[in-house]
Amino acid sequence: MSIDSPLYGKHVVLGISGGIAAYKSAVLARLLVKAGAEVQVIMTPSAREFITPLTMSTLTGKPVISEFFTANTGEWHSHVDLGLWADIFLVAPATACTLAKMATGVADNMLVTSYLSTRAKVFVAPAMDFDMMAHRSTARNLRTLESDGVSIIEAAEGELASHLCGKGRMAEPADIVSALEKYLASEKTLAGKHVLVTAGPTYERIDPVRFIGNFSTGKMGYAVAEEAAARGARVTLVSGPVSLSAVHPSIHVVLVESAYEMLVAARAAFDSADIAIMSAAVADYAPLHASEHKIKREHQSECVLSLKANPDIAATLGAAKHAGQFLAGFALETDNEHANAVEKMERKHLDMIVMNSLRDEGAGFGTDTNKVTIYCAGGEKREFSLKSKAEVAADILNTIEECVARQA
Ligand code: C5P
Repeated sequence: MSIDSPLYGKHVVLGISGGIAAYKSAVLARLLVKAGAEVQVIMTPSAREFITPLTMSTLTGKPVISEFFTANTGEWHSHVDLGLWADIFLVAPATACTLAKMATGVADNMLVTSYLSTRAKVFVAPAMDFDMMAHRSTARNLRTLESDGVSIIEAAEGELASHLCGKGRMAEPADIVSALEKYLASEKTLAGKHVLVTAGPTYERIDPVRFIGNFSTGKMGYAVAEEAAARGARVTLVSGPVSLSAVHPSIHVVLVESAYEMLVAARAAFDSADIAIMSAAVADYAPLHASEHKIKREHQSECVLSLKANPDIAATLGAAKHAGQFLAGFALETDNEHANAVEKMERKHLDMIVMNSLRDEGAGFGTDTNKVTIYCAGGEKREFSLKSKAEVAADILNTIEECVARQA
C-alpha cells in the first residue's frame, strides 16, 4: 500500500458495466487497493456475465453490490449512502448503455442510481466497439456528461474484441489510476485559504410583499464556491435569495436579502479572506422608503417609487483591501464589453474581472453554461469557450491561483 499516493485513504466506488473490458477492472481494483484506496465495487447485472463478483470482492475485501437488496436476506443497499461515501466515483468500463443512462438519469440499476446520488467527482472510462464509440448518440451522451462535470478518461485506439481496429479500448488500468491521482493531487490547491463568494440576486423591499430584484439564479457563484471548497478552501458564501443549496461541507452559507445585508455580511468575512469573488447581481437601487404596509391600488391610483443607490460591495471591499488579498468581480455586459469590464475593474480596485456578455448565447442568467472572458489587473486577457458553469468556475479559480502565485 502506498501512503504517498493521493488515493491513500480515499473512498472509491468502482462501477463496472457489462463490456468485455470488464476483465481489466480486476487489475484496476488491484491497483486502486495497492495505492491505498478503499474500493467498493458496484456491478450492473450484465457486468456479472463478464467478470465474477467473487473476483472483485476478493480483490477489494468488500462484497460487491449489484442489486438494490440481497435476495435471500432482504438486506437493503442504500445507493444514497454509497454515493455519499465516495470521494471518487469511477465507472470503468463504461458501456454505451451505461453512459446513455447516466447522461439521461435512467436509474434502473444500482450503478446509475448511486451515480445520481453521489456528490463525489465522477470519472468514466468508456469502452465499446469502434462504431458504437463513433456514433453521434455516444458523442452526445459524453458531451452531456462532460457538461455535468464528469471527467472522461478517453478510450484508446487499437484492436477491439470484435477484431475491428479503432477507438474504443478502455484506457489501461494504470493510466486510469494516474488520472485519478493527478486529479486528487491538483485538487487541494486552496488548502488553508479562506475564500469569500457573493452570489445570487438581492431583493430590495418595496413593501412586505414586493421587491425589486433581478433574474440572477446564483448558479455561477454557487459553482465557484463548490469549486473553491473542493480545492480545500474554507468558503464563506454570502447568498441572496436563490433556490440552490451548497453541497460541500466546507461552505458556510450566510443568507441575506438586500444589498445592504450583503454588504454587512461580506465586510465581516472579508477581513480574514485571502480571496473574494463577487459574483452576486446586486441591485443598483433600493426604494428610498419601504412601506410597512402593503401598498393598495385602491388607495392610490399612481405609485411613484423614489430609489436610492445601493452601496457597491465590490468597490467597498476594493477600497478596504490589504496586501495579499485578491479581489475578483464579474461584469455582465450587453455592449462595449471590453471597455466596460476593464473600466469596472479599475474603478472598483479589483485584481480581476470575469466578463460575460448577454450577446453570447448560453451566457448569463439562469443557464447552466457560461462563456467568459477574464481580464487581470496586469493587462492579461483570457477568452474561454462556452462551458458548464462548473467548468467556468474551475477556469476562474485556475486564473486566480496563477495571479496569486505571480503576486507572491
Ligand atoms: O457595476 P456592476 O454592477 O456591473 O458591477 C459588477 C460587479 O460588481 C460584480 O462583481 C458585482 O458582484 C459587484 N457589485 C457589488 N455591489 C454592487 C454592484 C455590483 O458588489 N452594488
